[in-house]
Amino acid sequence: MKSKKNGPLNAKYEALNQNVDDYLEGLLYSKPINYWDYIQTDALLNLQIQRTVFPDEMVFIMYHQVNELLFKMVLSEIDQVAKNKALAPEFFSTKLMRISRYFDMLTASFTIMKDGMDIDQYNKFRTTLIPASGFQSAQYRKIEFASTELINLIDKRFRDSIDRNSSYENAFEHLYWQAAGKDYKTGKKSYTLTVFEERYKDEFIRFAQFYSTNNLYSKFKSLPEEDRENTELVKAMRHYDYTVNIKWVMAHYNTANHYLNIGGKTAEATGGSEWVKYMHPKHQKRIFFPDLWTKQEIEAWGTNL
Ligand code: HEM
Repeated sequence: MKSKKNGPLNAKYEALNQNVDDYLEGLLYSKPINYWDYIQTDALLNLQIQRTVFPDEMVFIMYHQVNELLFKMVLSEIDQVAKNKALAPEFFSTKLMRISRYFDMLTASFTIMKDGMDIDQYNKFRTTLIPASGFQSAQYRKIEFASTELINLIDKRFRDSIDRNSSYENAFEHLYWQAAGKDYKTGKKSYTLTVFEERYKDEFIRFAQFYSTNNLYSKFKSLPEEDRENTELVKAMRHYDYTVNIKWVMAHYNTANHYLNIGGKTAEATGGSEWVKYMHPKHQKRIFFPDLWTKQEIEAWGTNL
């Protein structure tokens, strides 16, 4: 006889055409869950494989892994905004502020990385990492595609002239980050960029197609005027833009400078870009939500750092 207590349970399994009693019997034999199985600590702690004997290489690997985990958290928050059919400004701001806190963590913790490794060790173990580069972080690229319209990720030299309705293929070739690995005169791409595209280009195009109308900026623009003027929401949008595109970028740049600018001489990066120029926000001028900044703020973007 079905007990009244199991009413919602019965309803759930009946809807699936399943017998709830069979599931309840399974409970008799299933193992109780514990922390390490649930969090998968054994799997997680077995993912740190060094290529050299230097102990500080571990800091480098693990810090990148921490970043990738947080990138995944950021993408999951953006996904919830993207798929929300009745987006309210309060929900939107809450999500943006949470995403910004993840990036705040990444920005503040970059000093751990900057002052975390022995410079000599770093400059030795990094030679075994050529031609890999953080540039090849697919999740970082996805965060960009999910945050703004494609036009704002186009290299600023082509942004005004590119046809806004051009194909994804053409837009892709003009993304700002192509500059890290492409000679625009010859069109020749570096190995770092070539293999990155071989691995991810199709996935990126599919991802960018979904986010072409569901990115944070488009979501914001599709809100009624009253919501677009919501002070908290505008503040949260600007905060996120600034945190990623100035604060994180600068923390990253300062770290690169710390390790790769030795005695005033700049070393070549593992990914081979002209990094001093490429990485600084004043050159990239990557801004997710340009309408939310004044003309002066955009002109001054990254210049006073
Ligand atoms: C010692 C620490 C680091 C140094 C010296 C460093 C250096 C660089 C350099 C020089 C580049 C330019 C591309 C190249 O030629 O390789 C780059 C790109 C990049 N790195 Fe790092 N990086 C460090 C840590 C990190 C960390 C922890 C992450 C997090 C995943 C990261 C993510 C990226 C990303 C996403 C790019 C592409 C940025 C863009 O296109 O604007 N890097 N890095």
